[in-house]
Amino acid sequence: MQIESPFELVLFGGTGDLSQRKLLPALYLLHRDGRLPDGRVVCISRREMESVAFIDWVLAALKTHVASEYLEEAVWDGFASKLQLVCLDADNPDDYDALAAALSSDDVNRVFYLATGSNLFLPVCRGLSTAGLIGSRSKVVLEKPIGHDLQSAKAINESVAEYFSESQIYRIDHYLGKETVQNLLVLRFANSLFESQWNQHFIDHIEITIAESIGVEKRAGFYEQVGAMRDMFQNHLLQLLCIVAMEPPARLETDAVRDEKVKVLRALKPIVGDAIHRHVVRGQYDAGVSQGKPVPPYREEPDVHHKSNTETFVAAKVEIDNWRWAGVPFYLRTGKRLSERVTEIVVSFKEIPHSIFPMQHKNTMANKLVFRLQPDDGVRLMLCEKRVGPGMSVRPMNLSLNPANHRKTRVPEAYERLLFDALCSNATLFVRDDELMEAWRWVDPIIQHWNEIDLRPEPYTAGTWGPAASTLLLAQDGRLWVENS
Ligand code: BG6
Repeated sequence: MQIESPFELVLFGGTGDLSQRKLLPALYLLHRDGRLPDGRVVCISRREMESVAFIDWVLAALKTHVASEYLEEAVWDGFASKLQLVCLDADNPDDYDALAAALSSDDVNRVFYLATGSNLFLPVCRGLSTAGLIGSRSKVVLEKPIGHDLQSAKAINESVAEYFSESQIYRIDHYLGKETVQNLLVLRFANSLFESQWNQHFIDHIEITIAESIGVEKRAGFYEQVGAMRDMFQNHLLQLLCIVAMEPPARLETDAVRDEKVKVLRALKPIVGDAIHRHVVRGQYDAGVSQGKPVPPYREEPDVHHKSNTETFVAAKVEIDNWRWAGVPFYLRTGKRLSERVTEIVVSFKEIPHSIFPMQHKNTMANKLVFRLQPDDGVRLMLCEKRVGPGMSVRPMNLSLNPANHRKTRVPEAYERLLFDALCSNATLFVRDDELMEAWRWVDPIIQHWNEIDLRPEPYTAGTWGPAASTLLLAQDGRLWVENS
């Protein structure tokens, strides 16, 4: 697959945090690998900035966020020549003429990337349309979270749909761009070994963890409005769940894949009423020690309200009501200021029915298949082997299925993959409107309930694995999170 040239990528929020940390570094790396053909990257900024200052700013961003071994002067010069800055106020329709002047008058391969709050999606689409910038080959990429509940997401979808058809809309969830997530699809659907075991007959439970060691950092203005449920659970965690639990699509085609994912979301057992207390844990970090340093409680972070009830941690027991997964709990959790940064999917197989070996604990020795997404990526299978020496004692053994040190190629960043796909008009790893709606439909009652009770989430010490209730969530089913087992 190749990007059609000349391309035009217009980044709204072009000098914002996401551009600085992820989008511009990803574009630079694509350019470095020779995968970005002739074209332009137009960054939109509300604040006035001279072109020279902008180019310096991009270079500083790359020096911070791209490994120094990939920064080469000649490559940078080529990349810099593709960059352009346009200063405009996205809310002001008159400002879009400046953007029109910077773009070609032809109907080229053009992607508008909206790395802004979803409240700006409508004004931006309207401004682009009035200025005649939306061509038949234009696409729009929407950053998450889209809306704050089902109703607002529907309203945003409808307004964007006035300007772009569904096939032109790319809702990004950068977790789908991570290499291990795609590898999970390959491992599941290119091997018969796993697929034959991938159901309630053989699997006891599945854990999906996205743990971060960082706190809210400088993003309180955003985070106070969303919390962990809207920031991570409604999108990243549920998308990972879909990839793990979906049926094999008939073909690797955009809608064939998305059809299967949406079926998983439709089959999620609703968690409503009293079940919310039993199945969902909501936490907020307190003071503690993170990576060896004392850190303040969430409520004392800059710009956080001192009585904030925003959750920084969510764990939930999720069930899928279908033949494949009936009776298999999926334990999902995410949080900030947790013990370490790790994203993992742990598939725990059923324990053996009877042990013939001394000292083999049936449950702790159950096989596990672990997909690690970060900080390093890889897949490992936990089996049992004989302990060397006399007797027949059994011990756990980790079989690495793709040792990172055997790999010669650089693992691309999620945003590299997704920006490339959007520029190539491949929407397979993007979220369709019905998936977004189903995800909101499922989380809405939980968020509504939290709003009604208006209580502080359960505090947990920064640098730990979250509130005690999270441990109890599994303990009540006789299970343990992977770090305790
Ligand atoms: C973003 C969230 O979508 O994902 C952030 O808004 C979070 O709060 C980030 O820190 C985590 O992404 P990654 O790729 O670093 O795990």
